[in-house]
Amino acid sequence: MLRLEFSTDVPLLKVFQVNRKMEVINTNEAKYDRMAELQAFDETKAGVKGLVDEGITKVPRIFVQPSESEEAAMSSNKKFKFPVIDLDGIKEDPIKRKKIVQEVGHASETWGFFQVINHGIPSHDLEEMKDGIIRFFEQDAEVKKQWYSRDFTKEFILNSNFDLFKAPVTNWRDTFRVTTAPIPPNPEELPSICRDILLEYTNQVMKLGDILFKLLSEAIGLKSNHLKDMGCTEGLMALGHYYPACPQPEITPGTSKHADNDFLTVLLQDNIGGLQVLHQNQWVDVPPTPGALVVNIGDHLQLISNDKYKSVEHRVLANKVGPRVSMACFFTTSFLPTERLFGPIKELTSEQNPPKYRETTVKDYSTYFNSKGLDGTSALLHFRN
Ligand code: OGA
Ligand code: NI
Repeated sequence: MLRLEFSTDVPLLKVFQVNRKMEVINTNEAKYDRMAELQAFDETKAGVKGLVDEGITKVPRIFVQPSESEEAAMSSNKKFKFPVIDLDGIKEDPIKRKKIVQEVGHASETWGFFQVINHGIPSHDLEEMKDGIIRFFEQDAEVKKQWYSRDFTKEFILNSNFDLFKAPVTNWRDTFRVTTAPIPPNPEELPSICRDILLEYTNQVMKLGDILFKLLSEAIGLKSNHLKDMGCTEGLMALGHYYPACPQPEITPGTSKHADNDFLTVLLQDNIGGLQVLHQNQWVDVPPTPGALVVNIGDHLQLISNDKYKSVEHRVLANKVGPRVSMACFFTTSFLPTERLFGPIKELTSEQNPPKYRETTVKDYSTYFNSKGLDGTSALLHFRN
C-alpha cells in the first residue's frame, strides 16, 4: 500500500513569500503522484481523524495549501461588526417584524451572512446536535468505516472531502451527509448513535427555514410566500463536519474558500472558531456565539434575486485546538432529479435591470459546482449572461 508522505520542514516564511506551485513546495521530494496518495488516503476510510489517531505531527502533503500567502494567512480584520439579528417577537409584533425584515435584507445584500438569536430552536437541541456529531465521529473506527462511501445517492454517508479527487488541495475535515427533505430518511438508514437528534434538529431547521424565506421574500419586495412557492424550502441536505486538531494549521485549510451551492444555509458551529467571511475584500471572523445560528445566502438565491442577495465566499481555518464541529444545513434540491428551471425572478428585473443569469436547473448548477470542487472560483460566473 502507498504511504502518505508528510510535508517537509520548509520554513513557513519561505513557503508564503514565494508564489510557488505544489511541485515547487515539495522541492525535496520532486513531483509526486497526488492521485495515488489521495487514493491511499481514501482507502483507509478513516478520514483525517484516522491520521490524527495515528499520532502524526506533520500533515501529509496532500493537505498542504499550494497558493499564495493571502489564502493561507490567518489574519482576520477586526474593524467590522458581524451582523446579529434578534428574531424575538417576529410573529406577534408587527413593528419588530418590520425592523427584522429590514435587517435581514440589509445583511443579505451587504454581507450575505448574519447570525440569528431567538430563532426558536431550543438550545438543548443545539447542544445535542453538536454532541451527536462528536459521538458519531468518535465512535469505534471499524463501526464508523461501514458508513464511508462516495455514493451520493445514499441517504446517509460519511467521507472526507466530497471533492477529494477534484479539488487542488485536501481539507483537514471529515463530513457526514444526510438528506432529510423532501423525502424523509428511513430511520434504519441512519446511524443510531445520532439518529434521533438528526431527525429532530433538521425538523427544527425546516421550521426556521420557513421563517427565513418569508423574511427574505418580504425584504426584497415580494409576497411573503414567493420564495417558498418557488420551491426554496423543499429540500434539505445536512452536513455534519468534524475538524480534528491540526498539527500545522498555518499551511492546511479546514475548508477552502467557497460560496455555497444552495438557496440558503443554516449553520451551527461550536465555540472553537475558524469560520471566516470575505467582506469588503477582508477576511472577517464569524464569532462563535452560544445559542446563535449562522445564516448565509447561497448561489441559487443570488442567481434568482439577480444579484440583490449575495452568496459570499467563506472558509474555515484549521486549528491546533480541536476537534471543531459544525452542522451545515443546506436548503437545496440539488440531489433531486427535477427539471424545474430557475432564473432571475421576473419581478426583480426590468429594462434597466435585465436578467444577469441564464436559466438553469438546480441539478445542472450542482453538477457544474461539484465537477470543479472547492477550487477557489465562483460557480455563478459560469451561468452569467
Ligand atoms: C459549508 C461550510 C462552515 C463550517 O459546509 O459549506 O462553509 O463552519 N461550513 O463548517
Ligand atoms: Ni459553506
